[in-house]
Amino acid sequence: MSTDSKTRVVTTYRLREMKSRGEKISMLTAYDYSMARIVDAAGVDVVLVGDSAANVMAGFETTVPMTLDHMIYHARSVTRAVKRALVVVDMPFGTYQGNSREALASAVRIMKEAEADAVKLEGGEEILESVQRILCAGIPVMGHLGLTPQSIHKYGTYAVRAKEQAEADKLVRDAHLLEEAGCFGLVLEKIPAVLGTRVSQELEIPTIGIGAGGGTDGQVLVIHDMLGINNEFSPRFLRRYADLYTQMMTGVSRYVEDVKSGDFPSEQEQY
Ligand code: KIV
Repeated sequence: MSTDSKTRVVTTYRLREMKSRGEKISMLTAYDYSMARIVDAAGVDVVLVGDSAANVMAGFETTVPMTLDHMIYHARSVTRAVKRALVVVDMPFGTYQGNSREALASAVRIMKEAEADAVKLEGGEEILESVQRILCAGIPVMGHLGLTPQSIHKYGTYAVRAKEQAEADKLVRDAHLLEEAGCFGLVLEKIPAVLGTRVSQELEIPTIGIGAGGGTDGQVLVIHDMLGINNEFSPRFLRRYADLYTQMMTGVSRYVEDVKSGDFPSEQEQY
């Protein structure tokens, strides 16, 4: 398929097909061109330009400070690199909760300026009007329930969500509302595995879990965490596939030593 039109190989329709045939969906975050190229070439199905960029790229403690301009900057770098995967971009805090008109305007900016494939919003019933308005404009929307990091100041903790029955019931209701509204998929973050499985079985749209157990239709992780670039974050749900912190420290320290000792550059490394 040609990628000139920016129609990527993985579409929201394909994700639905993957769920129906029981093929698990892989999703990873990326925030810049070089990382996105690797993630796409490695065969990841969905690249998420997450507002976790606030933490791993900008060093903020929460995702709250992220702006629409920041997200568009990261998303543009990612969409320039990705040829195959579906690119989903997080709508940052404050750009969709207030009113649905503003939500649509923010989503349109992401689609036009970043050439994204879809947007992701955190929340259920409270943001339904915004979700509906964005969907009416033909923009694919992914929901996000469970732990919603943009609400950290409301809950005050990143602990597992929906352990109590009332919260679990609300989550199930919200999941159905988002599916009925027309969302193409749903991220479920840090909830009990039984609840992740139940929601995934009840919905026809794919669910992608992060700390939601093995019963969801796919998995997502933050790339800096799973590659071990960020070595200070070790929640139970995280599996590390590399120790890039150590490898990068070793490489950079060796470079410093070589420069200081005059070993670099050698005769062969100059003109
Ligand atoms: O911002 C992000 O990276 C996310 C994932 C944790 C799902 O929303």
